[in-house]
Amino acid sequence: MNPIGPDEQARAILRGNDRGGYTVPTAGLYPYQWNWDSAFAAWGFSTFDIDRAWTELETLFTGQWQSGMVPHIVFHRDDPGYFPGPDVWGTKTTPPTSGISQPPVAASLARWIWEADPEAGRERLAGLYPRLLASHRWFMTARVKDGAVCVTHPWESGRDNCPDWDIGMAAVDTSGIGDYQRRDLGHVDASMRPGKADYDRYLAILHFGRESGWNDAEILENGPFLMADPGMTFILLRAHEDLAAIGRALGEDVAEIEHWCQTLRAGADLMWNADLHAYDARDMRSGRFANNLSSAAFLAFYAGLDRPELERRLIRAWNAVRYGIPSADPEEPGFEPRRYWRGPAWPFLNTLIARGLHDRGKVGLAERLRAETAALIRSGGFYEYFDPTDATPCGGKDFTWTAAIWLTWAGRSGKETG
Ligand code: DGY
Repeated sequence: MNPIGPDEQARAILRGNDRGGYTVPTAGLYPYQWNWDSAFAAWGFSTFDIDRAWTELETLFTGQWQSGMVPHIVFHRDDPGYFPGPDVWGTKTTPPTSGISQPPVAASLARWIWEADPEAGRERLAGLYPRLLASHRWFMTARVKDGAVCVTHPWESGRDNCPDWDIGMAAVDTSGIGDYQRRDLGHVDASMRPGKADYDRYLAILHFGRESGWNDAEILENGPFLMADPGMTFILLRAHEDLAAIGRALGEDVAEIEHWCQTLRAGADLMWNADLHAYDARDMRSGRFANNLSSAAFLAFYAGLDRPELERRLIRAWNAVRYGIPSADPEEPGFEPRRYWRGPAWPFLNTLIARGLHDRGKVGLAERLRAETAALIRSGGFYEYFDPTDATPCGGKDFTWTAAIWLTWAGRSGKETG
């Protein structure tokens, strides 16, 4: 039994992963500032240090490119324990960064942080607003095709080895990648991480971007990988709505953002797979569906989209395991309950799914998901992800966003606090 309660443990994890103005997702495995991890860190800090919460977001945006893109990693200081580091990405930016983005949760989390204390946060939020707006505009010009947000690399989706990407990855030529040494396997068991064939392809796609000089138009039109991502689309749609709410409160004209919302709402239809009865990733080069039921499909509720068929699919996948929400379909033969995004449940994603369920009036389901997520964390600790069949903790330990969502959501009921 740990003598200190889970709230205090969660706060200690956030403080322990703080590198001074930014937070690493976990020591060792991820030693830099990651984009969406950092936004969750800010939300977690907001429960006990509001100034530190805003600083986290401000530091993330120091990595923003001229184009508006907020990169998925900001390499504030070098760390040989991670591969691929700044030299491999070769973006030639200050600070050094990766060359792709990540699901843009920042506007939504900035809104939730601000709403908890509107007076205290107004000035900090006003400072961030133009930067958030520029990043959303970048997505709409550099990553949207036919109304769907497309990812140019599985790492951009944040759901690296999800079966969603298998068909797009199969087409990636790895003949020129050369030798390299992975570092992740020194931190986490190989059976919980993406395989070598995946890593070869991750690098081949990276090399294309670097050789193009990180030219967004070239990457979108001719890159080796381009898939419409339901997760990215739903997160950006929700983030647009939250950014528009922020803009209105600040007295800004938000017509451009409202137009983006309409574009993405219409674009979501492109990803509705009638055979799967769910939203599904789609290869934009071939037009083919991934035919995979991933947890990202259930972010539709979070984006305000609702379909009775999707709710039925959610319940079926959920009931096939003991703890929601599996990242891939537990009824498929390729389901791997401990391998990263090919099966495990991810507490931070559960937070977004539950918020969507709650906002759509599915309050009982939202509470079930909170209670199951809390049970995972209570029994296994603040791990990166969990086996949804038996609650085995997986991946990195003392994980920032798991701690953050404990403080803001999973641990917030009369029974869980303390
Ligand atoms: C990794 O290194 O595994 C990350 O997911 C890339 O962002």
